[in-house]
Amino acid sequence: MTIDTEALGADLLQQVNDAAELSALEDIRIAALGKKGAITAEMKKLGGLDPEARKAAGQALNQIKDAVAKAIEARKSDLETAALDAKLAGERIDVSLPIRPEKSGRLHPISQTFDEIVAIFGEMGFAVAEGPDIEDDFHNFSALNIPANHPARQMQDTFYLKEPDETGENAVVLRTHTSPVQVRTMEAGNLPIRIIAPGRTYRSDSDITHTPMFHQVEGLVIDKKTHFGHLKGCLQEFCSAYFEVDDVPLQFRPSYFPFTEPSAEVDIGCTRKGGELTIGHGDDWLEILGCGMVHPKVLKMSGIDPDEYQGFAFGMGIERIAMLKYGIPDLRTFFEADVRWLKHYGFVPLEAASLVRGLTP
Ligand code: DAH
Repeated sequence: MTIDTEALGADLLQQVNDAAELSALEDIRIAALGKKGAITAEMKKLGGLDPEARKAAGQALNQIKDAVAKAIEARKSDLETAALDAKLAGERIDVSLPIRPEKSGRLHPISQTFDEIVAIFGEMGFAVAEGPDIEDDFHNFSALNIPANHPARQMQDTFYLKEPDETGENAVVLRTHTSPVQVRTMEAGNLPIRIIAPGRTYRSDSDITHTPMFHQVEGLVIDKKTHFGHLKGCLQEFCSAYFEVDDVPLQFRPSYFPFTEPSAEVDIGCTRKGGELTIGHGDDWLEILGCGMVHPKVLKMSGIDPDEYQGFAFGMGIERIAMLKYGIPDLRTFFEADVRWLKHYGFVPLEAASLVRGLTP
């Protein structure tokens, strides 16, 4: 009995190369190399041959086995590549196609206002800092010179996640303002400091002019010779850039905050002629933010030597300045997630706010 190994090999290789699909290729592999496959069957016949012929046929069969296995691997890789190419071609998206207007989203005015604030202060050399929404008593209150039982704690309707203990401290709260980011930044100790901290803030308050969650941006500058004049210049620059009105009139009114001394509230000039509010020159004033020179006690509690360093801080409500700039009449609509509102007041994404290109698209 002889085995026609050449014909067998040629036939199997032909089958492998003709396989059009991965599943067909797998069938061929089993039929050739599997336990009951053609090559295995031929191997079994070797025992009936005389030693010389067995050796020759054995070697030939092994060669065929290797060649077929190799051919299957190569074919498999070709078929896989072809399958992937076909899948990618089928899923191809033409990114150069214009957006279908009915499908395009809008940037929320809060996001737009964040971007504008960051662009303006970024240009002035401020970095953006962040802190946690869930704050401890120390950072939200005590380190800002608002000790336990201080009336200012009652001024802010705090959401407590953990009530204060018998000392009146050690509570865990949803931060009531972005001022704790001042403390965290000063504690980190990389002086001088020039940061803004935009973010969410929370107070248990809900009516036409208050929502339980709202947004603020905090500013903090600490250096050796920073003074109130710098604070004024900085806010003047910001307001002119943000409201896009040259030399917008600002009025600094003495005020009180526990963490600043002296403290001021800032009003911006406006007119209300004809029932419409216009920001800029005019006969009326509108309060937009609180600010002051950082209290020496606050510096000290955050590990900064008040004899060597001083600086200013400010904080403002983002919804408020967004409403003023974009003529949005009702605060609560910011959080109603009404798509029609967003279509009307929202902004085109990808047209990033920049002082060079213009803040507003
Ligand atoms: N944290 C104050 C608030 O929420 C706002 C504020 C006032 C922040 C004066 C400041 C500041 O940094 O200097 O009412």
